[in-house]
Amino acid sequence: MNQPSGISFSDIGSRLGGPSGIQELMDDCGEALSLHPDMRMLGGGQPAAIPQVQALWRQRMSEMLADGSINKALLNYDPPGGNPLFREAMAAFLRRECGWEVTRENIAVMPSSQSACFLLFNLLAGDTAGKKRRVLFPLLPEYIGYANQALCEGQFTACLPKITDTAPHEIKYHVDFDRLRHDPSIAAMAVSCPTNPTGNVLTENEFQSLHALCAAQGIPLIIDNAYGHPFPGVIHNGFQPKWQPGMIFSISMSKVGLPGVRNAVIVADAPIVKALSNMNAIVSLANGNLGQSILTPLLKDDTLIKLGRDTIRPFYRERSDHAKAILANALGEKVPWALHAQEGAFFLWLWIKGLPIPAAELYRRLKLRKVLVIPGHYFAFGLDQPWQHPNECLRLTYSQPPHIVQEGLEIIAEEVIKLF
Ligand SMILES: Cc1ncc(COP(=O)(O)O)c(C=O)c1O
Repeated sequence: MNQPSGISFSDIGSRLGGPSGIQELMDDCGEALSLHPDMRMLGGGQPAAIPQVQALWRQRMSEMLADGSINKALLNYDPPGGNPLFREAMAAFLRRECGWEVTRENIAVMPSSQSACFLLFNLLAGDTAGKKRRVLFPLLPEYIGYANQALCEGQFTACLPKITDTAPHEIKYHVDFDRLRHDPSIAAMAVSCPTNPTGNVLTENEFQSLHALCAAQGIPLIIDNAYGHPFPGVIHNGFQPKWQPGMIFSISMSKVGLPGVRNAVIVADAPIVKALSNMNAIVSLANGNLGQSILTPLLKDDTLIKLGRDTIRPFYRERSDHAKAILANALGEKVPWALHAQEGAFFLWLWIKGLPIPAAELYRRLKLRKVLVIPGHYFAFGLDQPWQHPNECLRLTYSQPPHIVQEGLEIIAEEVIKLF
């Protein structure tokens, strides 16, 4: 990486301070949203502006101003593992709504699920007593944000999926258990569900088999539920994974519509919760209080769970159907294409079979036409060998207003059709 003259960065400094896929993505999308209003933003994992959801946040902020709780939220440092009252409310919510046997000792509040994953991957894996321990991602493509989080070389490994045709122009990725080789160097397995970027949801069978494999090795199965269970609950097939001792679940406040508060929750065995809290004290001192204050009463009276079920999930389902219909109409039978089955999250994952240029080049051409997408290669990491498939794929977000999504998708189709 470029270093200022006269200053040398440490190995870890160079690893974290250099360019990365997630930094380019966040710069690109952040600039598009603030500096380039003419850019059609089909890029980031930004939640949509859903009027009922935004009204609820405004109502909570007014209540906090009126009852003075805003003063406490802004003034106080909480303990590094989170506000004890919020942890209690969260544990009660998870027991009541999800049937998870947890207490507040199983709940760690973190400054975001992004930083929670960073701390977790480096807590569990890396150089350990002279050996290298690794995190295994059992189902690529997987979230771009994990790709640069390892502090050691070779700390991540990953498994290619089985790709099945599920309908005309539709595919689904499955865990390829024949390829999934466990060895003693594996310290944890991690999967986002629904997966960013594909919207894939593990089948019950896959979830149970991964859990059994991890339990047999005495290692944690990490499920990142950023888009899924229990909130915002953008899972269309009803899958509700159950947390059990030995597992680690991550729940974000972002995709429910609060990325600005930077708060997330980790559900894990008490020693993991304690270690994460201790790490959080070193890195961040404490968490932001606003998200916890906004959500505490909404957890207690079940407003949050109803919001996901009755408003957020149907909203994204409709947007997803709308986007799919536009793309299907624009691409027709002119090129060989498939979308991943719409099982959850906020994305279309488009595979252009035999795309004549790399997806990264298509991204550049689309950006010139004021359409921002994410090329698929960013979502493949932890591999020893090149994998062509994601170079033929794009991740497309449909959370922006429908006319923007429509224009963007039609331009994408035009550019793709030109190539064949
Ligand atoms: C799968 C997944 N995990 C974690 C994150 C990070 O979320 P947070 O805003 O809580 O850091 C994202 C953000 O897009 C995501 O898609």
